[in-house]
Amino acid sequence: MTMSSSPAPPDDTDALHPRERTLPVDTAIPLPRRTRVGIVGAGPAGLLLARLLNGNGIDCVVLESRDRAYAEHRQRAGILEQSTVDALRASGAGERLDREGIAHDGVELRFDGRSHRVDFPSLTGGSRVWVYAQTEVVKDLIALQLADGAPLLFEAEALSVEGVDTARPVIHYRHDGRVRTLECDYVVGCDGFHGVTRRSVPQGVLTSYERTYPYAWLGILADAPPVYDELIYAHSSRGFALASMRSPEVSRLYLQVPGGEDPAAWPDERIWDELDVRLASAGSRKLERGPITARSVLPMRSQVTEPMSHGRVFLAGDAAHIVPPTGAKGLNLAAADVVVLARAFEHLEREGSSELLDAYSDTCLRRVWRAEHFSYFMTTTLHAHPDGSPFDNRLQLSQLHRIADSRHAAAEFAENYTGAFSG
Ligand code: FAD
Ligand code: DHB
Repeated sequence: MTMSSSPAPPDDTDALHPRERTLPVDTAIPLPRRTRVGIVGAGPAGLLLARLLNGNGIDCVVLESRDRAYAEHRQRAGILEQSTVDALRASGAGERLDREGIAHDGVELRFDGRSHRVDFPSLTGGSRVWVYAQTEVVKDLIALQLADGAPLLFEAEALSVEGVDTARPVIHYRHDGRVRTLECDYVVGCDGFHGVTRRSVPQGVLTSYERTYPYAWLGILADAPPVYDELIYAHSSRGFALASMRSPEVSRLYLQVPGGEDPAAWPDERIWDELDVRLASAGSRKLERGPITARSVLPMRSQVTEPMSHGRVFLAGDAAHIVPPTGAKGLNLAAADVVVLARAFEHLEREGSSELLDAYSDTCLRRVWRAEHFSYFMTTTLHAHPDGSPFDNRLQLSQLHRIADSRHAAAEFAENYTGAFSG
């Protein structure tokens, strides 16, 4: 690798983000300077897109602001729909998933002293979901990408995307303390809700639809066997609780807490006691307790950006939409977006037609809004609203009894949960 002290070409320096004008610019280090598709963000959306594009011989570069260890260990989602599993397999990342993923054919709803299991295959014509943590999805995709020698740069923070209305959008990013430039034919923002790509689109082009919720989740990871062999979603007057898992030895558990709660307000014993109360139902087992190895508070919000593209810039995953986690949809939507996008790029390469790229936003938004609605429904049906009245509580219970008592309502729930709907 050669270092050069020669001044950067004027077009590089001129385009610098204002915050970065004082940083040295080095254009001689042989990092990629041009690519077909510049991908911002190495979460599930960016990584899966890169694998699918590379699999079709389409050149791309992934820029990730965090280091590899951080990206691989961020605790997040745990439930994969069948279509996500299929996409991961198609990308080459199915091997460990098929070995270690746990197929689930149902979930249990607990409410009003009652336990009701919703059986997915019988209600949907065969659909099921898989427990396989986002951390593992990300590790698998990163390992494949690096093994292929495909460009994936960690600690490469995109600062801005410029020329979004031109045929040559440019990503300015910081790597090794220097500002660099990546010229692209297309840019895909997979950089999450707080990323820069969406903000680089000119004002007035995008519309944001959003809702926030007056509660949050306290999520923990514990070295304790799961209390039950499927997930439990529990409605209680003290607030929602969810019992999930990562393996036969590791539980993932969530409690509804007030928005902005400090995790320090929840010592271990308080968490376990509260989980016991909220997850209790007639004849249910008590949780086995174990060391808590991670805890964090997650805000709850719904948000959709429309359209999900502008010119040669596309938004995918959390960069385009957020769901509250109750429906387990965030990661699955991210995967669905990039499957559509990868197909559209392949169509462009093979047929020379941008028709699928042009339709990207409309194609994705059908599924996005269905998932938004289901996530909103799950959230507002299962959580105790701080200003909720006894009337509101009765409406929630009525809805849950309806799922338990009507095959039709249960099928609607199961189709949404497993993603077995068209759109
Ligand atoms: P992300 O996973 O957010 O990836 C975006 C990537 O872009 C990150 O690696 C980030 O570091 C990088 N990035 C950001 N800005 C830049 C930049 N300027 N330059 C370069 N890189 C950048 N869903 C569920 O279904 N269940 C859950 O329990 C659940 N828990 C969650 C907990 C948290 C704290 C969060 C934030 C989300 C959670 N979700 C959950 C949602 C789910 O994890 C997301 O929907 C999923 O991660 C979306 O993937 P993504 O690739 O679109 O975005
Ligand atoms: C998990 C997260 C969710 O948001 C959910 O609805 C189900 C499971 C999990 O992390 O395992």
